[in-house]
Parts: sequence; structure tokens; C-alpha cells
Amino acid sequence: MEDNIKILIEKALDVRKNSYCPYSNYAVGASILAEDGNVYVGANIENASIGGTICAERSAMTNACSSGARSIKIIAIVGGKVDQNINEMDWAFPCGICRQFLNEFASEETIVVVAKSSYEYRMFKFNELLPNAFGPNNLE
Ligand code: THU
Repeated sequence: MEDNIKILIEKALDVRKNSYCPYSNYAVGASILAEDGNVYVGANIENASIGGTICAERSAMTNACSSGARSIKIIAIVGGKVDQNINEMDWAFPCGICRQFLNEFASEETIVVVAKSSYEYRMFKFNELLPNAFGPNNLE
């Protein structure tokens, strides 16, 4: 588990380099270990319309889903000002829209890792970040 987390954080830091964030200058990277055993990554991609921006978490999840993955084991997130030293990340928690989006593919076991580096990170159960979620079960 710990090894997996460190690898996921490294991958999130790596994909963060591809963040397209000319408007906020805030770069985020996310990586998802899916139930299929693969890791999917995504960065935030901004848009001149501002509203068309997609966060790193949704970027990673759309990547995973497009490849056929449907369930998140672990998601790791790193974020901070674009020019910030790689060792000085923020605690970049997923925004509300991303929490709802990820809920679709989360389970009781899903872990969210918010990381500053591969040795400084916080872990949460997905449920802690979005309790009493509205999800697919509501529509059964
Ligand atoms: N952002 C993310 O990528 N994930 C979040 O959960 C919060 C915000 C991005 C969106 C935007 O490109 C920039 O950070 C500033 O809001």
C-alpha cells in the first residue's frame, strides 16, 4: 500500500508538469490506481472561457473511464502554484465538483491521498470527503 502510494504521488507530480493553467497559474496533477491494476493520470486543463476548465482529478478519471476502468482504488493529488518548487506543494484537496464526479466511481474502500511530496501526504477515505453522497444507488 505505502509503495503504491509513493508511486502514485510521483506519477501525479510528473503529470502536473503538463498542466495547462495560463489563467490561474495553479498546476494540479492526479493519478488513479484503478481496480484493473492500471494507473491513469491527468492534469488540470484550463480554458479561456474559464468555465470550460477541467480539474486534474476529473481529467484523470475521464482518462481511466475512457480506457474502461470503472472503480477507483486510490487517487493521489498534488497541486500548487505553477512556479512553486516541487517540494513546496499545497494541500490541494479535490473541489466539490470533483468529489461528486469521483463519487460515481468510488467505493467504501476508495482512498484519497492529498500529497505535498512522496513522503508528506494525508490519506482519507473517500466517504470522509463526501459523506451522504448522492450517487448511482439513488437512481436504482
Ligand atoms: N483545480 C484542480 O485541478 N483540482 C481541484 O480539485 C481544484 C482546482 C484546478 C482548476 C484550475 O485550473 C486551478 O486548479 C485553479 O482553480
